[in-house]
Amino acid sequence: MGFKHEFVRVCLVMFLLVWVIEAIEAEDNIRFFNVKDYGAVADSRNDNTQAFLKAWNEACKWEGRARVWIPKGTYMLNTVTFQGPCKGSMAFVIKNGVLKAPADKKSFLSTETWINFQYVDQLTVAGDGTLDGQGAAAWPYNDCSKNPDCHSLPATMGFGFVTNSQVHHVRSINSKNTHFVLYGCDNMNFTKIRISAPGDSPNTDGIKIGRSTRIKISNSVIGTGDDCVALLSGLKKIDISQVVCGPGHGISIGSLGKYDDEDEVEEISVKNCTFEGTSDGVRIKTWASGFDGKVSNLKYEDIVMNNVGKPIIIDQEYCPHPPCSQTPSKIQISDVTYKNFRGSSSSDVAVTLNCSPSKPCSDIRMENIDLWHQNSGSGKRVTSSCSNAYGVSYGKQSPPSCF
Ligand SMILES: *[C@@H]1O[C@H](CO)[C@@H](O)[C@H](O)[C@H]1NC(C)=O
Ligand SMILES: *[C@@H]1O[C@H](CO)[C@@H](O)[C@H](O)[C@H]1NC(C)=O
Repeated sequence: MGFKHEFVRVCLVMFLLVWVIEAIEAEDNIRFFNVKDYGAVADSRNDNTQAFLKAWNEACKWEGRARVWIPKGTYMLNTVTFQGPCKGSMAFVIKNGVLKAPADKKSFLSTETWINFQYVDQLTVAGDGTLDGQGAAAWPYNDCSKNPDCHSLPATMGFGFVTNSQVHHVRSINSKNTHFVLYGCDNMNFTKIRISAPGDSPNTDGIKIGRSTRIKISNSVIGTGDDCVALLSGLKKIDISQVVCGPGHGISIGSLGKYDDEDEVEEISVKNCTFEGTSDGVRIKTWASGFDGKVSNLKYEDIVMNNVGKPIIIDQEYCPHPPCSQTPSKIQISDVTYKNFRGSSSSDVAVTLNCSPSKPCSDIRMENIDLWHQNSGSGKRVTSSCSNAYGVSYGKQSPPSCF
């Protein structure tokens, strides 16, 4: 009697549970596509590309909220493109796991991006997981500083024409090239991202953005071998806030002016960011070349510099590998605000505004700049160096302003 009673009770509870889960699923229309159900093996050796692709393709056909689910573990993954458009919203959840890039030369010299998302709307990439680019195996093949025909190494994760999407709580380590690269994207938020690679790893930009609009990067820590954030041509409404950058080359606009088909860069805001021992802080770099361009409406505000090589720099004669053209840059830089800067410079020239004689910088505003030499205790002072730059200054000015 007691047994039968218990049995009925268990059945009832089970039935209720299933009913509740189904009700929740139906209501939210969420469905999980676990890569393990498609043959993925977390042994950190076998290639899981086909299993991941199958899970993505099934998820992409689901008309509700599809979640490609990657349970804890280390998964080897070759070059892969997750393609949209999809029927519903998509999530790619790396649950505390690690995705590992191939380390053999054959697989990485023939591709631009390791994990690529294309033409996806409403994508979420999250899950506290790590993308391990295994860059150390590839960096010796980066000879682009000497060889103009060099193969560029693949970026870790690419977003091409991805819209209304977010990337949060994801970690990228030791990318072979750029960690995250965006092209043709609109309305994307990056939050709580951690990026790391050695300070001397070549071309390992943190987040590189071209031809995109309404991109936000916030609450993130980026330490890498190249720019923490690199902003290329064709950008509008890019907001960067609460980012800690270092080691690295700072937050850069450019380089611009190397090609003749570049679009404007406008409405860029960098707020509440900290730079730790970077070679540069906030930088704008354009090549001395005959190509037109326009950079305008930039706001740098509430910035802390700790032992930064060149905290504020505009360089319109950018030329990392001489010899270079002597044509003055035709990129017009205007309407740039630097407000509430404090901290230390590791070089004497804390502010460099090296603008083009053919397109002088205009409407530069410096407000409350409080930068000191790292060795100010031993009497070292910082200075400003300006050419072809016009603007105004308010409030505290250390170094003394050019205006
Ligand atoms: C990004 O964040 C802003 C608020 O900071 C929000 O208005 C917007 O909807 C977010 N976009 C996405 C795609 O989550
Ligand atoms: C940004 O920094 C300023 C000054 O340090 C501070 O007053 C403000 O609250 C910060 N904003 C955020 C969103 O943390």
